[in-house]
Amino acid sequence: MPLVEITPALRDPCIPAPCASVLQQLRTATAVQHTTLEARLPLTHPRLDLGTYKRIIAAYYGFHLPLQQSIERFLAPQAIDPERQKIPALIKDLHALGLSDAQIHALPRCSALPAINSVAALLGVMYVMEGATLGGQVLRRIIADRLGVDADSGGEFLDVYGRDTGRLWKAFLKELADFDTPLHNAEVVKAACATFDCFQTWLEQARVLNDA
Ligand code: HEM
Repeated sequence: MPLVEITPALRDPCIPAPCASVLQQLRTATAVQHTTLEARLPLTHPRLDLGTYKRIIAAYYGFHLPLQQSIERFLAPQAIDPERQKIPALIKDLHALGLSDAQIHALPRCSALPAINSVAALLGVMYVMEGATLGGQVLRRIIADRLGVDADSGGEFLDVYGRDTGRLWKAFLKELADFDTPLHNAEVVKAACATFDCFQTWLEQARVLNDA
């Protein structure tokens, strides 16, 4: 019996409990990053305006497009699950928000992305990007209330999976659980933390985040 029992609350989130499932490890390790991003993204801000929303969706496009291309390169010759494509929704929103094809094409794209060089890293990246669709369900209602924006007027991305959100999240969790191996879980967690970091840095550069 150890002299001092370290409770989960006191444990360094970057050193996951060895017996925890990979999902528990991901949740613990990224909790602060999620809370920080949630607080700094003006999407829930009472005074959110359409101009800010448009800049956020443009910045999301600039991150998701190169990230999806990186996932495609890793998966090749297999393709990304067509059900999990997010770029068409972002393009639809940008069009609805008034951008032309040429303006969308000219948007800045992130080059400091999380490395995807293993299945473990891919799952860590996917945990963050797939998990964000859950928050999207909350955000789409806020955007509809505050800005009057719905799926056809710029809010498609926040509801990208629509009524399939729960099913696709559960299917992803199953993939994650099937992969779960103590040998590789740290790599999954590292990639998820890197994804949050890269996304936050990108949104900071795009000047769409509130001050920390
Ligand atoms: C204002 C912005 C955000 C809000 C209000 C928000 C809200 C939420 C909520 C309510 C959930 C839990 C849903 C549920 O349990 O059914 C969730 C889950 C999650 N969100 Fe966010 N979110 C935001 C931004 C983001 C962003 C930008 C990312 C990543 C790019 C992200 C990644 C995740 C992940 C990975 C989960 C899954 C956690 C898990 O169950 O393991 N969120 N979010």
